[in-house]
Amino acid sequence: MKTPVSYGDKLTCIMLTFGVVPKMPAHFQTDQERMPDLSDWRPEYSVGHLTLDTQHQRLLALCKRVSAYEFRRDKQSLEEFHNILNDLAAYASMHFQTEEAVLKAVDYPALAAQKQEHDAYSESLVEFMFDAIHGEPDKLRLQRYLETWWIDHILVSDMAYKTYLLARS
Ligand SMILES: [Fe+2]
Repeated sequence: MKTPVSYGDKLTCIMLTFGVVPKMPAHFQTDQERMPDLSDWRPEYSVGHLTLDTQHQRLLALCKRVSAYEFRRDKQSLEEFHNILNDLAAYASMHFQTEEAVLKAVDYPALAAQKQEHDAYSESLVEFMFDAIHGEPDKLRLQRYLETWWIDHILVSDMAYKTYLLARS
């Protein structure tokens, strides 16, 4: 029988395997030419806050990178795929911190629910990363999860604070 592995244990395992501490991916810093393709962004995704919109655009572009990745069952491919997931986790974490800080500053009443949603997402991503380092990434499931989650996050959860935020900016 398989022993259940906790979220913390999986995170530690990922850190030890790859020797990584989530950090900002280099391609998100300043180089305009290396910016991700934002062609999937639509004006109706805007939450009326420039920084959050920019982060959402980059997150969608990262999801696209995950979807576009041609996975092969070899060690190099596994590492590359894991690095893409790591980029996504790092950027998502930074976005969640920014979003929570913006919402806290305006006393957004549903902040706790937003935070819960963010934590659940981070936990799921760790699950996918854990599967990836064990050579069993379910790319299709991950792809569907990311697309659905981010579209829901932006169009439902985040759209819910748009009016509130705009009224207080
Ligand atoms: Fe967001």
